[in-house]
Amino acid sequence: MDAPQGHENNTDQIAYWNGAGGQRWAARQPVQDIMLQPVADLLIDRARTKPGERILDVGCGSGSTTFAFARAVSPGGHVTGVDISAPMLSRAREVTPAGAPVEFFLADATIHPFASGSFDLLASRFGVMFFADPVLSFTNLHRALKRPGRLAFVCWREARENPFFMVSLQAVYKHVPKMPPVGPEDPGPFAFASQERVTRILMAAGFSDIAMEPCKVALDVAVGRGLDAAVQGCLQIGPAARALAEHPPEVVAAATNSIREALTPYVKGQTVPLDGSIWIVTAKA
Ligand SMILES: C[S@@+](CC[C@H](N)C(=O)[O-])C[C@H]1O[C@@H](n2cnc3c(N)ncnc32)[C@H](O)[C@@H]1O
Repeated sequence: MDAPQGHENNTDQIAYWNGAGGQRWAARQPVQDIMLQPVADLLIDRARTKPGERILDVGCGSGSTTFAFARAVSPGGHVTGVDISAPMLSRAREVTPAGAPVEFFLADATIHPFASGSFDLLASRFGVMFFADPVLSFTNLHRALKRPGRLAFVCWREARENPFFMVSLQAVYKHVPKMPPVGPEDPGPFAFASQERVTRILMAAGFSDIAMEPCKVALDVAVGRGLDAAVQGCLQIGPAARALAEHPPEVVAAATNSIREALTPYVKGQTVPLDGSIWIVTAKA
């Protein structure tokens, strides 16, 4: 599977999710799915699915929420996962449970010509913050919804409210320069942290009844495998891993020790739970 043709302004994201970044996510699929399960549970609860519904899982990645939504709309329902990442979709296809009413396709949600009025619900776990032109993307997605239709997605709140990211990143910053600042409206994990911005985007795209519920989730960065696994996880994906990319092994080794030290106070048995702050966003078409 090759990278898809996407909107020209999404080129960087398409390159990232089809390159080493997307490959690391695909390789870590089993652990990511366990770690982010509390987020999936909240999303599925707030999405209020009914058997028989048709759902579009936007930025579905390796498919874990696609499968969970498929269980929630059984019998008779169907879930389509769309993503720009060939490696993550290939992983999703590999791990699809036999007979699950799901399909996956590789496309840029910003411009893909979805059949209009074909879904009851647009859903996403952390898959909608990477659009270069979110009004264009959500306008396109809005067209794909039936009337009445619903939107339910989860995005991160501010970085400073997310020890899940910041504990390891601050440890790494003892050893390497800070990464260039990212603008609050630039695509990335925190692009939808502002309630005002998300509301503005969704209204401009045609959504109504927009609600944003702040939630805290404890995310076990060790996925039950102890402190070493937690440290390795921080070195593989997320901002600490990005800050360390291309630094020499001795710097990585020193930063690894600092990450271990920073995580140690959070250890509970074989788990290392860190708080994550998210918005659960719901709206109507
Ligand atoms: C942080 S990952 C989340 C993956 C998955 N939803 C999960 O919770 O495990 C973000 C996902 O959004 C996808 N993505 C980013 N921009 C996209 C776009 N324009 N169209 C479709 N998918 C996109 C990425 O390829 C990636 O799989």
